[in-house]
Amino acid sequence: MKAILQRRYGGVEVVELVERHIPEPAANQVQIKVMAAGVDRGTYHLLTGKPYLLRLFGFGLRAPKVQTPGRDVAGVVTALGSAVHGFKIGDEVFGVCQGSYAEYALGSERSLALKPETLSFQQAAALPASSVTALRAIREVAKLEAGQRVLILGASGGVGSFAVQLAHSLGARVTGVSGPGGLELIRSLGAERALDYTLDGLEAEKDFDAILDIAGGRPLNQLRRMLSRKGVLVVIGTEQGGPWTGGVGRSLRANLLSPWVSQRLSALVSFEDAEALVAVRELVDAGAITPAIERSYPLDQAAQAIRHVGEGHTLGKVVITVA
Ligand SMILES: NC(=O)c1ccc[n+]([C@@H]2O[C@H](COP(=O)([O-])OP(=O)(O)OC[C@H]3O[C@@H](n4cnc5c(N)ncnc54)[C@H](OP(=O)(O)O)[C@@H]3O)[C@@H](O)[C@H]2O)c1
Repeated sequence: MKAILQRRYGGVEVVELVERHIPEPAANQVQIKVMAAGVDRGTYHLLTGKPYLLRLFGFGLRAPKVQTPGRDVAGVVTALGSAVHGFKIGDEVFGVCQGSYAEYALGSERSLALKPETLSFQQAAALPASSVTALRAIREVAKLEAGQRVLILGASGGVGSFAVQLAHSLGARVTGVSGPGGLELIRSLGAERALDYTLDGLEAEKDFDAILDIAGGRPLNQLRRMLSRKGVLVVIGTEQGGPWTGGVGRSLRANLLSPWVSQRLSALVSFEDAEALVAVRELVDAGAITPAIERSYPLDQAAQAIRHVGEGHTLGKVVITVA
């Protein structure tokens, strides 16, 4: 099979297209014929191995342990490990796996679900990491309700494009923030207001019931001034931190400060499991979310896809079409 290979951490120059054996599933694994794979900021972090802190979480200290990049996947089940009972050969699935930038990949039954029937494989591959992050932030942490005002910083990107749709579908009043190129998309996804972070005046915004802090890395004090007295801040991500720990310091400070203030400050650590993927599928089926796909690349242009996402200005999602 054709597969993308990354033997070491680095820029997109470490990405090669190679021929490899099709991987055989272990007892608890599903073999997937990959139809499409998603690209997100996590892919870029795992390519570069930065922030360095992430290497301590089992990804490989000096070189990546899994040499084929890509986690988000949509495809067809082609073989089953002996202990897998939840899927059958021919099932169309989506979720996360190891090495989705290849013609075949292996995934655990626990992090896959049946694909939404109304979506193409490309659309389904855009869902897993970003939509689950948005879902956890809005439902589990912010516990957003109809009529509440939510500010979404980074609303035009992968996570933000799902967060805007989800919040809108719940009946919340959404203010989305991006650069000038993302404002039209944010409005089209259901935001009542779309604000440009390159202009002055954002700091004067006040009284939000919830803030989803997906980009920008603004200081916690500034975000707290924009929240209502009992508001909730969900720190999701930033690319502003240094190469060693990234934005972890700000996330830790939010968690430490929270018990001492009237507002709730919380850092999200998202993960994709079958339960969350099924919840996402139900939201797709209900018409609450549809992936906004900016661009699809063929497998042999995976490096360009990762570079584009790494530059940090995607409009919605980027996917790789494999078959
Ligand atoms: N906590 C978790 O579990 C978790 C899970 C998933 C992702 N993340 C993190 O979340 C972050 C976002 O991920 P993503 O995949 O959504 O990234 P993305 O697709 O690159 O989107 C980021 C968006 O942020 C906007 N942006 C950039 N600077 C901004 C600013 N100063 N103010 C407001 N918006 C700004 C960009 O819009 P413009 O193009 O207009 O600049 C871009 O559309 C990353 O750091 C990622 O690592 C965390």
